Amino acid sequence: MLIASLKPRTMGGTTNTGLLAYALARAGHAVTCYDADESLQLAAWARDAGDFPCQVHEADTPAFAETIYPEMDHDRINLVDAGHAENHPDIVDSILEVVDLVILTLSPTNPDYERLTRPERGTPLAKVIKRSGALRESGEPPTTYVLLNRCQAGAASPKKYAGLLTGGGEKGTDPRWSVLSTQIPRREGIASAVGFPCDKPERRAPYDALVTELTRRGHLPVVGVGA
Ligand SMILES: Nc1ncnc2c1ncn2[C@@H]1O[C@H](COP(=O)(O)OP(=O)(O)O)[C@@H](O)[C@H]1O
Ligand SMILES: [Mg+2]
Repeated sequence: MLIASLKPRTMGGTTNTGLLAYALARAGHAVTCYDADESLQLAAWARDAGDFPCQVHEADTPAFAETIYPEMDHDRINLVDAGHAENHPDIVDSILEVVDLVILTLSPTNPDYERLTRPERGTPLAKVIKRSGALRESGEPPTTYVLLNRCQAGAASPKKYAGLLTGGGEKGTDPRWSVLSTQIPRREGIASAVGFPCDKPERRAPYDALVTELTRRGHLPVVGVGA
């Protein structure tokens, strides 16, 4: 299967991709990563960290669906870190053609919310995802979840923005998103993860919870039963 980590701009996508790969590997899944961001920070992390859990293949091409996807081992969990959708819409379009599950990283803040729902330039991501259905085998857009990250413990913002996202904004007229109940906390140990060893307690627990939730929702194979 293929999971894509998506975001409109820099929002914590690479951090979440790497630490999700780490959690998936710890849960016993066979994982492979693909770096579809021209910055190649995920690939560099795997090279530098020492304990990065899997191989990362460079895959920053708008021909992702035609050249990268067919070569994957589809029995593994393949995880692709997409670049900023605002800057690389062509690569994102190609990933959306073939992906099974999208995880969209977003902080519960006004700029991130506006960037997702009402960008000053470019096509809103909801529209990009919806129209991808036309090019997909199923004819439907991929299942997509928002993963709230950089959540401050005890703050009201995660609940507020989760409500706006699931409810279609203040007026209920905007696209509605599914929001995962797992939230990635704002933590220095997570902020400084990219490029460094994964093995730190702060880099484990929230992502273990994410794997548990995705499994409970039926999006991950049960370990030992095959993909
Ligand atoms: N959970 C978190 N808590 C605090 N800071 C975070 C967290 N996740 C990411 N960051 C910070 O957010 C910034 C963007 O992260 P990165 O993973 O590189 O995003 P992207 O791949 O979307 O550009 C970095 O400065 C990183 O340190
Ligand atoms: Mg990145």
